[in-house]
Amino acid sequence: GREDSEPSADLPPLEQLRQEAAGCTRCPLHCHATQTVFGEGPGDAEIMFVGEQPGDTEDLAGRPFIGPAGQVFDEAVAAARIDRSQVYVTNAVKHFKYERRGKRRIHMRPDAGEVAHCRWWVAKEIEIIWPRIVVALGATAYLSLTGESRPIAEVRGMPIPMQDNRILLVTTHPSAILRMPDPDLKARSLAAFRSDLADVKR
Ligand code: URA
Repeated sequence: GREDSEPSADLPPLEQLRQEAAGCTRCPLHCHATQTVFGEGPGDAEIMFVGEQPGDTEDLAGRPFIGPAGQVFDEAVAAARIDRSQVYVTNAVKHFKYERRGKRRIHMRPDAGEVAHCRWWVAKEIEIIWPRIVVALGATAYLSLTGESRPIAEVRGMPIPMQDNRILLVTTHPSAILRMPDPDLKARSLAAFRSDLADVKR
């Protein structure tokens, strides 16, 4: 037997990275979150989606985009005829940041410092998977991937060439759509989101 050896040494690089990330203490967000929510999907995916950070549901389950925002995401992905099991889905920040109000945990936007710390993991995920297309879901993902703060409306929907032939596509964050109070605006944003995802497939 090899009971002394590092068990992770035999794992594929993405699984090794996942194990390392499980113990991440690079920023204080790990103190109050249940667990690291790492990316999910094949190590050779052509398309990688980057969200903001896990929500309440994701924090408890340890998987990205499975709560209300995940439902909007799944529906748009399915409508675009993308097979979610074939794409890699991750977040710019891998621990849930929240504020406690009674029994509820209210989502708080990660700040630029937290995004910068967690960018280390996102960069590793990209390095290993090397997707053809990276889709930034919202401004936090855009910040993580480019280091720039820009209003999503300015960059949404047009493919941005990155180094080494990768393409960055920016779209709305599904949670932002869910939060829109105006039903007309909400419907239009959802249609634009779906159309952006249909473009990803093309
Ligand atoms: N919102 C995100 O950005 N990511 C998730 O995983 C869930 C909700």
